[in-house]
Amino acid sequence: MPEPLWQDLGSVEELKRRPLTQINLGRMKIALSYLNGQFGAVSGTCNHAGGPLGEGTFDGEYIVCPWHHWKFHCRTGLGEPGYEEDAVPRYDLKQEGGRLLINLTPASKRGHKYHAPHPLERPLGREPGPVRVLGISTTIMDLAYPRFSASDCLLDVALEEAKTKHKAETQLIRLNDLRFRACEGYYSKSAYACTWPCSITQMDPMDQLDRVYEGIVFWADVILIASPIRWGGPSSLYTKMVERMNCLQNQITIRNRVMLSNKVAGFIIMGGQDNVQAVAGQMLMFFAELGCVFPQFPFIAHSRGWDAEDMERNVRLVMGSEELRDGARALVARSVEIAQRLIATAKPGERMERGGRKAFSREGKRPAGAEADQPA
Ligand code: FES
Repeated sequence: MPEPLWQDLGSVEELKRRPLTQINLGRMKIALSYLNGQFGAVSGTCNHAGGPLGEGTFDGEYIVCPWHHWKFHCRTGLGEPGYEEDAVPRYDLKQEGGRLLINLTPASKRGHKYHAPHPLERPLGREPGPVRVLGISTTIMDLAYPRFSASDCLLDVALEEAKTKHKAETQLIRLNDLRFRACEGYYSKSAYACTWPCSITQMDPMDQLDRVYEGIVFWADVILIASPIRWGGPSSLYTKMVERMNCLQNQITIRNRVMLSNKVAGFIIMGGQDNVQAVAGQMLMFFAELGCVFPQFPFIAHSRGWDAEDMERNVRLVMGSEELRDGARALVARSVEIAQRLIATAKPGERMERGGRKAFSREGKRPAGAEADQPA
């Protein structure tokens, strides 16, 4: 038996005032509880992704992790019923002279119940085969009474060209057909709370954004995004999608793991009013931060001006425009050509220097606020 390592935590009366506290003792974190007249001490580092249990809430006698709501008994450290094996270490406590002392030698071990990995939690890599072009339509319409969409029309033209002329495999995802939740801001709790696969994807089997992750991360060589302009910004579905894709960028921040390598992104932007440059700028910036590369002239766009809101005419113009169709064909041709070159020269597993990159810290390796001791 190892020697006990008793450490003074403070005045008993003082500590009784706080039902749940996260206490940092060097690198060790303790979730100290005082519930129903009893103190309890368990590890303050959650088994799942390292969430601070002492900053959680109670469900009965279980501490609820503030990050993704796993539950651990506040005195035994055992996981909630059915998940008892998912245990965090517990620590013995004693009171002497009005002081509360903790034995820093854990009284029990951390345990892990087997959880089958999510299908998206698999090694990155490209399956051999022809270039694959994924079109993502972000336009919204009433599915019962569909209307003409200029951005969808040109996306269809580009995909058809990819298939027939460039012998690429193609896939079209219409976000309007998917049911998926908006990002709920796990990153706002901590960079480590924003997980891959996305926390929502892991917790909600009904959420359908897994199809986009599957397509973008594992399948596509070329990603073509089509968006209308809405009040000077891209479609709200585009924004909803990219907010949920923060988990991809965050893997670069916290693990220097680039999820999208050797992938080409191109954009089709159609608007009733001008703001093409700002919308294209946003899109290029986001996909550049994910690690995508771009063909020369990486987007095509069309818009009507401020004083010409004659959208019926705009629709007729796009429907009849062979120039715009040729532009969509040329955009996909440029994208496929770059993708072919990238596939031919790919260097799998190449690491990226972090200096100067988003969330790089000159003081340390971890982004500000990241937990020091993550569970394995
Ligand atoms: S539930 Fe605790 S870190 Fe995810």
